[in-house]
Amino acid sequence: MENKLVFTIFILGMLVLAACGASQTEEAFTPAPVPTEFADKTNPLGADAAAAGAEVFKTNCELCHGPQGHGDGIAGQSLDPKPKNLADLQAIVGDDYLFWRIYEGRQGTPMVAWKGILTDEQIWQAVSFIRTLK
Ligand code: HEC
Repeated sequence: MENKLVFTIFILGMLVLAACGASQTEEAFTPAPVPTEFADKTNPLGADAAAAGAEVFKTNCELCHGPQGHGDGIAGQSLDPKPKNLADLQAIVGDDYLFWRIYEGRQGTPMVAWKGILTDEQIWQAVSFIRTLK
């Protein structure tokens, strides 16, 4: 009887340790400050641009970021770093951040700059779509 109790406490202890370990490996992400030429830009398009943005996203982004932007696209799995989960990201950053990152890309990663490939309007449409991701 007493052995059983000790064992139960031991298992509970291991579970607590495992939970702590898991939360430590989860990366804390602090978004970089938006450069002044992009800071405070707001989306000139309304939420109804999300439908057009879904098309832009499907054609240009889904392969890496996945259909719901969860960073699970088929081409994204072998990339280093892996594509960001845009559903999580959009919850913590502003429109200016999203526009800047899509426009300029991220040097040294597979996230290319989309300026010159997509129009500003298409980028804002993509931002409207990203805002719908959960
Ligand atoms: C070739 C694969 C690939 C394609 C295509 C791609 N991305 Fe990315 N994207 C990445 C990777 C990898 C990262 C992670 C870079 C990082 O943040 O370290 C990223 C990061 C991002 C970020 C966040 C940057 C940050 O760190 O804050 C946004 C926003 C983004 N992508 C949007 C898009 C949009 C919108 C498109 C389509 C127009 C797109 N991506 C197309 C690979 C891709």
